[in-house]
Amino acid sequence: MAMKDLRTAVRNVPYVWSMLDLRLPPSDPVDRVLGKCQTIEDLRVAARARVPRPVFDFVDGAAGTECSLARSLEAFDRVYNHPGPVDAMSGTDVDLSVEVFGRRQAMPLVLGPTGFTRLAHTDGELAVARAAGSAGVPYTLSTPATCSIEAIAGIEAPPDLWFQLYVLRDRALTLDLLQRAKAEGYRVLVLTVDTPVAGDRRRDSRNGFSIPARIRPAGMLQMARHPGWIKDVVTSAPLDLASFPLAGQGDMWSRLKAIADSDFGFDEIAWVREMWDGPLVVKGILDAQLARRAVDLGADGVVVSNHGGRQLDRTIATLDALGPVVDAVGADASVFLDSGVREGADVAAAVALGATAVLVGRPYLYGLMAGGQRGVRHAIEIFRTGLDHHLRLLGVDAVAKLERHHVSLAPSPLTTVGVTASSAPARIRSVG
Ligand SMILES: Cc1cc2nc3c(=O)[nH]c(=O)nc-3n(C[C@H](O)[C@H](O)[C@H](O)COP(=O)(O)O)c2cc1C
Repeated sequence: MAMKDLRTAVRNVPYVWSMLDLRLPPSDPVDRVLGKCQTIEDLRVAARARVPRPVFDFVDGAAGTECSLARSLEAFDRVYNHPGPVDAMSGTDVDLSVEVFGRRQAMPLVLGPTGFTRLAHTDGELAVARAAGSAGVPYTLSTPATCSIEAIAGIEAPPDLWFQLYVLRDRALTLDLLQRAKAEGYRVLVLTVDTPVAGDRRRDSRNGFSIPARIRPAGMLQMARHPGWIKDVVTSAPLDLASFPLAGQGDMWSRLKAIADSDFGFDEIAWVREMWDGPLVVKGILDAQLARRAVDLGADGVVVSNHGGRQLDRTIATLDALGPVVDAVGADASVFLDSGVREGADVAAAVALGATAVLVGRPYLYGLMAGGQRGVRHAIEIFRTGLDHHLRLLGVDAVAKLERHHVSLAPSPLTTVGVTASSAPARIRSVG
């Protein structure tokens, strides 16, 4: 090194020293994991590391070729954002709140119903409800929940509680669920209509997935790689359906199928309407005419949803279905959207195209698997900060000011070119 360079290097020692970050990583392992997760995809990768493969696949997987999920995710990449004037946004507070059925919530996000949540983390639905409560967003308890209707309603500072209903073969049992939800203060009923039978979850069949798990010797090795998850499972109550008993023999999944595979007909929405005194939302609609029919039968809202791709394969992407549904129901009902929402910008796009709010399933389950209640809160925070930042860049200081002209949606290339799970966008294939 030349003398001149050496002198410069010595002079620069304080500057170089100031660049060194000698802070130790957080001592708490959950903080360490979550600290590295900036996106829902990061949470997904963290979840994959924390739980055994069959559990991860049960949450992450979809039905058939997984094409419905791939399409719903891909649709958000076809959104073009059109900013307005962006003057003086830096010091402004952005109002993310929206009113849903007469109640104001922190942002246009609802934690959707997911069955068997205690599989993902033994704190299950309790952890999810607490995180929703602290973030000011609603939580929807699923019919096949693993914490009961009453236990969730009994937590301190509960969120706005919604209850998801599968109309079971046994209508008396169905009615009992409704009455208990009402008595416990659940405000909104979400009636799911896209599940006449369970979807063809091929990852689950390949993994020999069952509830409770039946672990073969090879599976034991796989489990041993996840000591934290194992410790939680062996030190907490066994997994069970919490809101109603399941009779019969066999694993819980097949016993549930026996009572849930439904003879429910679409027009029975009118029966549920009669039985539920409160906002009624029909979930699992992809078609404008069906949305209209649901509203005519008494629904106050519909969720444009393909069940996160877990039921019928090769459906339209939900974002593509949204506009026609919004036009068909007009001012007569609220329209929600789910399936594939992963970014604050995705929430904004759905709202700009006419949704009142979005529901999410996997995003908070990834958080739950990665870090329990704190992981769910982290997932919600990713949506909140992402939405806030996105609105500032769009030049909009309130969610309520999002309008159709803020986004355009390019037509789906899949109308001419087929897509399979293996040709799906990179952002959903990165965890093998
Ligand atoms: C593990 C899991 C369980 C689910 N269980 C239910 C359920 O019990 N009832 C229901 O209506 N939807 C259920 N769903 C679908 C979600 O409510 C929602 O429609 C879907 O997850 C949205 O897609 P996303 O996961 O891409 O956000 C479930 C989804 C997952 C991932």
